Amino acid sequence: MSTPVLQETKSKPLDNAWVREQFPSLKLRVNGQPAAFLDGPAGTQVPRQVMDAVQNYYLHSNANTCGAFATSRDNDAMIASARASMADLFNCDKDEVVFGQNMTTITFALSRAIGRELKPGDEVVVTTLDHDANVAPWRALEEKGVVIRQVDIHEEDCTLDLEDLKRKITSKTKLVAVGYASNAVGTINPVAEITKLAHAAGALMFIDAVHYAPHGSIDVKALDCDFLVCSPYKFFGPHMGTLYGKREHLLRFAPYKLRPAPDTLPDRWETGTQVQELIAGIGAAVDYIADLGRRCEPEVNDRRGALLAAYRATRQYETALISRLIEGLLAIPGLRFFGIRDPKRFGERCSTLSIRLGNHTPTEVAAYLGERGIFTWDGNYYALNLTERLGVEQSGGLLRIGLVHYNTMEEVERLLGALGEFSGK
Ligand SMILES: Cc1ncc(COP(=O)(O)O)c(C=O)c1O
Repeated sequence: MSTPVLQETKSKPLDNAWVREQFPSLKLRVNGQPAAFLDGPAGTQVPRQVMDAVQNYYLHSNANTCGAFATSRDNDAMIASARASMADLFNCDKDEVVFGQNMTTITFALSRAIGRELKPGDEVVVTTLDHDANVAPWRALEEKGVVIRQVDIHEEDCTLDLEDLKRKITSKTKLVAVGYASNAVGTINPVAEITKLAHAAGALMFIDAVHYAPHGSIDVKALDCDFLVCSPYKFFGPHMGTLYGKREHLLRFAPYKLRPAPDTLPDRWETGTQVQELIAGIGAAVDYIADLGRRCEPEVNDRRGALLAAYRATRQYETALISRLIEGLLAIPGLRFFGIRDPKRFGERCSTLSIRLGNHTPTEVAAYLGERGIFTWDGNYYALNLTERLGVEQSGGLLRIGLVHYNTMEEVERLLGALGEFSGK
């Protein structure tokens, strides 16, 4: 099975100064130091155009949908436009894009709908590497007698054990739920190949792309997955979730819905009144990424092309940061590193990683860094199967450092300096 490699880089270098100008919150200072937002995996900062879009909604389009008057029509047009933006991001049709409160809520709704068709003895495959939002909604089906099979990892590099995965997919498997990238250790999974394995067994493929979305382009057509979810607040947008579903499945499965609500696509999946002001922000977040792409490759001629250009430049930029970060971390005495560390294999990871430092709890380290204006995350970040499997859950989990395209080499050096100081205390 081949390993996944993010696209080769052909674009102009990313203009980090321009990027940072777009994000007003990056100017924050803490205790006299510039804030270093290395907490992107928990939610990224937003560019000004996302804030403007939310404000514009309130100024010009604040009404419910499908009314026979101006603000309602503007709102309908705005939602259609944001849906078209997400369709470009996913590379799918507009009616295959569903908005929802967040990935977790969407996934529970989907598992309930799919569960209506499952019977005792049917199987669902989940993994040890995944965020619990791609585990618990499927485990909930155990109440109906569905059997959950969990794929193990290779502990030494925190990659999925693909031989175990092949063993766990059987003729009884109805759905395989795998993350595109780990929100804890940054491993990128070979989701296209796993989709083929799932389909060969007659199972559906559900991909959690929440962590992958700020780092790499998504192409649901090329992946041929049945469902894929991601959350705009992880890729510079507002706090919401989005689902791609193949049209045939969105029509076939029956969501729990109100009787007067439309039964057409994608509305039948969008329960109740949506957070419309934030849908406006989603459209603007996708447009921001496209703007970045046009700056890197001015010759691109459509939004999908611009998004791909942005991801090429982002990939190149983030690889330089993570290379230096991992090199620096491995030189710190007493540091335990989790995940892929070999630069030759950086195509299999994104710019998120987890560590432990000596006998210190991750909370102690995060608090020390936080005092110095460096924002990292401690605990299990809901990747509970993984922290349990790695044997760190009882002792406080891990310390996560997440880099996105607005972070800088200077921030990486500051972090390395602070960790070095802390470990030498
Ligand atoms: C990989 C991954 N999947 C799912 C989720 C849950 O997403 P949401 O907060 O939109 O429910 C997260 C959130 O951290 C995540 O990192």
